[in-house]
Amino acid sequence: MTTALITLLPGDGIGPEIMAEAQALLDDLAEQEGHEFVLQKRPIGGAAIDAVGQSLPSSTLAACRQSDAILLGAVGGPKWDDPEAAIRPEQGLLQLRQELGLFANLRPVRPHPALADASPIRPERLAGVDLLVVRELTGGLYFGRKLELTNLAEDACRYSTAEIERVVRRAAALARTRKKHLTLVDKANVLATSRLWRRITTALIEREFPDLRLEVMLVDAAAMHLISRPADFDVIVTENLFGDILTDEAAMLSGSMGLLPSASLGEQGPGLYEPIHGSAPDLAGRNLANPFAMLLSVAMMLEHSLGLADTARRVEQAVEQCIDAGQTTPDLGGRLGTREAAAAVRQRLADANSKREHRVEIHPLRARALAASNTA
Ligand code: IPM
Ligand code: MG
Repeated sequence: MTTALITLLPGDGIGPEIMAEAQALLDDLAEQEGHEFVLQKRPIGGAAIDAVGQSLPSSTLAACRQSDAILLGAVGGPKWDDPEAAIRPEQGLLQLRQELGLFANLRPVRPHPALADASPIRPERLAGVDLLVVRELTGGLYFGRKLELTNLAEDACRYSTAEIERVVRRAAALARTRKKHLTLVDKANVLATSRLWRRITTALIEREFPDLRLEVMLVDAAAMHLISRPADFDVIVTENLFGDILTDEAAMLSGSMGLLPSASLGEQGPGLYEPIHGSAPDLAGRNLANPFAMLLSVAMMLEHSLGLADTARRVEQAVEQCIDAGQTTPDLGGRLGTREAAAAVRQRLADANSKREHRVEIHPLRARALAASNTA
């Protein structure tokens, strides 16, 4: 049994709808497995701008800091899109990542065979694709010095050795548990920061992870290879903006933006878990959004922040079974709404868990006696 304080940040657009399903899933799991999940909901993004005039209210940040894990829906939408606006919803998310030191963003991509037709990539190229992008999340162009004049603007890109080493170490440790193949994606033929990434990464892998195969690849080539031979990747490590772009591209391998979860982790402290898709304002409030990326983000949280890897696997399996059975939202070819697709996942979990309970409830000696009486 696990006790955890979890902060829920529904955010904007479809965020609240998919968060409601995450909450229902956590309530079910707590009851089935005897955990105590204390859930506290706080505003972020556009919703927080509307409520208190800030995209990351200090009370939201404080709640996040004291929790064991954080779940986020999505932020942003046309209502707050005015480029002249002083405060934007996205700033709240970026500030949260930075304040909590969440430098490693894990974005796994494992296309489901039943969805090969939903992907714009040819099915034979998708066979065996199982990759993990580790995106640096608190540095680079996102957080560099900015200059914004009427006719001139500048975004500085800057990385230190320490920033590179900590995220490469995290990616390398993950590669060690997988196929031991790490690809560094950079633009070392043009960018000074990329040349630093390459030098530091090569030395670190040689020194600390000699059992790994390190490959270096320019980002333009990587964009091409992700489409032409995606199965050749295992773990990709890259800087912030390249990771942002490549993970939207990689999402299309799995057929829908509505399927990919992510985890943002720091050295210690709570992790932040969120789908990689946006707030999809066109789908908001219509019971149309795919809830699976959110539910799979819950699974990543169970594994990485709450030490419940087995429970995480069961959630993943329940989602996979729903996909196999065509119990999906329209983006994956199904006919279910957000609520119904999520309920189908919970139903499968409940079924699987009641079977498990039967197994553990019967004492082994009693089971033996039962078996004997059955065969007698
Ligand atoms: C993502 C998103 C964010 C990013 C936006 C909303 C700021 O695209 O998480 O990939 O660029 O990091
Ligand atoms: Mg993005």
